[in-house]
Amino acid sequence: MRVIRFTLNGDPVETGVRTEETLVQTLRERFGLTGTKQGCDLGDCGACTVLFDGAPVLSCLMLSSDAEGHSVQTIEGLSNGEKLHPLQKAFLEEGAVQCGYCTPGMILTAKALLESNPDPSEHEIRRALSGNLCRCTGYTKIVSAVKKAVNSD
Ligand code: FES
Ligand code: FES
Repeated sequence: MRVIRFTLNGDPVETGVRTEETLVQTLRERFGLTGTKQGCDLGDCGACTVLFDGAPVLSCLMLSSDAEGHSVQTIEGLSNGEKLHPLQKAFLEEGAVQCGYCTPGMILTAKALLESNPDPSEHEIRRALSGNLCRCTGYTKIVSAVKKAVNSD
């Protein structure tokens, strides 16, 4: 066990972690941030995506000890109090959420895309989200939601 310190959703935090503990385990089990989903645990589904220093990473493939000194953002850190982030609002309005399992990872990946490319083409949206699997929506509504968030700014 070792103690790590990092920034979580804007706040400085510290916790003990096991040597082999992954970031998704730490977020869910030590901080109760269950918005980050543990799906395949193999790097295949994208459900565990969080932003690490602003870039999407698969938290099931990352050791928690590597978070030392870095900044992690989860879906819980996205809204501004009761006010939803434009992406969250667009996903709801477009019906892009069904079971919701993929949604946190989709939204965080889309957030990183829009920060690096504020006006992406449909092809660029689909390519950015290609590592995030959805078994429910068929993706069309998800892509529409990202487009809507672009236009809501
Ligand atoms: S749980 Fe990490 S990619 Fe599936
Ligand atoms: S909404 Fe169910 S997996 Fe995407």
